[in-house]
Amino acid sequence: MTRTLAPDAAGITEAAGLLAKGELVAFPTETVYGLGGDARSDTAVARIFQAKGRPSFNPLIVHLPDLAAVETVARVSPRARDLAAAFWPGPLTLVLPVIEGTVSPLVTAGLPTVAVRVPAHPLAQALLRAFGGPVAAPSANPSGRVSPTRADHVLEGLGGRIAAVLDGGPCAVGLESTILIADPEPILLRPGGLPVEALEAALGMKLATAGDGDKPTAPGQLASHYAPEAAVRLNATSAAPGEVLVGFGPVPGALTLSETGDLVEAAARLFQMLREADSMAGPGGRIAFAPLPEKGLGRAINDRLRRAAAPRP
Ligand code: TXA
Ligand code: MG
Repeated sequence: MTRTLAPDAAGITEAAGLLAKGELVAFPTETVYGLGGDARSDTAVARIFQAKGRPSFNPLIVHLPDLAAVETVARVSPRARDLAAAFWPGPLTLVLPVIEGTVSPLVTAGLPTVAVRVPAHPLAQALLRAFGGPVAAPSANPSGRVSPTRADHVLEGLGGRIAAVLDGGPCAVGLESTILIADPEPILLRPGGLPVEALEAALGMKLATAGDGDKPTAPGQLASHYAPEAAVRLNATSAAPGEVLVGFGPVPGALTLSETGDLVEAAARLFQMLREADSMAGPGGRIAFAPLPEKGLGRAINDRLRRAAAPRP
C-alpha cells in the first residue's frame, strides 16, 4: 500500500522518517514529482531503480536544500557558484565533481561526478530540511512513461511499489530541470525547465550541447567510465585459473553480489563489488561474474556488466 501524505507538518515528518528508514517517498518539486530515496544508502537507491523498472543504471540527480548542503557532496567551482547564486533554488541541475564516499556509487553510476539540484518547491524544501541528507530522485514514473506532475499520476504508475507520496498538488513547471556540466567548459546535457537563453545570458556565452561533435549524449554511453581495469567475463559458473569470481545466488565466488540471489541486494553491492574485484584481481587481472536473471533489476545489472565486459577502445 502506498500512503498519500498531506502537505502539512505531520506529512513532512512522516515522509522524512520513511526516507530515514531507507523507504521511497515521492514528493513534488517545481518541475515534476521525484521518486526520493536516501542518496547515501545503496539499498534505497537500488529500490529506486527497482520501483521504476529501469533497464539500466542511469545516474540520478541528488536533491539538497541549499548550496551549503550541496557542498557536502560536490566540489563547487567558481562558475558553479555563480550559477547557483543566479538560479537556485530552481530548475537547474549542475553536474559537479563528487566528493567520494558521500553518496552511493549507484547514484553516480560509478562516475566521478554527481548531478545536484536545489528545488524551489516549498514542500521539497521542507522535506529536504526535515530529512537532513541528500535525496536521490528521478522522476516518479515507471521507466519509459511520462513524468508525473500530480500525486495521482504517481499513484497510477507506482502505487503499491513505494511507501508514500507527499501530495503537493500540480507541479508549476511540468518539465524536468535543465542539466548542465559546469566545468571545464559548460555543456548542456538536457534542456529543461530553465530556459537555455537564461543560462547563456548568465554565462555570457553560447552553450555547447551534448551530442555536438564527439561529446557523449548520455553518461551511460561513456563505456570507459564503467570499465574496471581487469578484463571481465560474464555468465561464469566457476573461476578459471587466476580469475576472481563474483558469485550470485547458487554460484559461490571469492566475492558475491548476493548469496541469497536477491536482486536488490545485488544492485546495491554492484559498484562496490566491481571495485573490490578489480583490486583483488590486480594489474592485468581477470574478473568473472556469475549469471543473473534477465528480469527486474537483473536487466539493469546485466546491462552494466555487459558494458564492463565490452572490448576497450
Ligand atoms: O526536474 C528534475 O530534474 C527531476 C525532478 C524530480 O527533480 N529529476 C529528474 O531526474 O529528472 P532523472 O533521474 O530523471 O534525471 C537524471 C539525468 C540522467 O539521465 C543524466 O542524464 C543526468 O541526469 N545525470 C545525472 N548524473 C549525471 C552525471 N554524473 N553526469 C552526467 N549526467 C548526469
Ligand atoms: Mg525521467
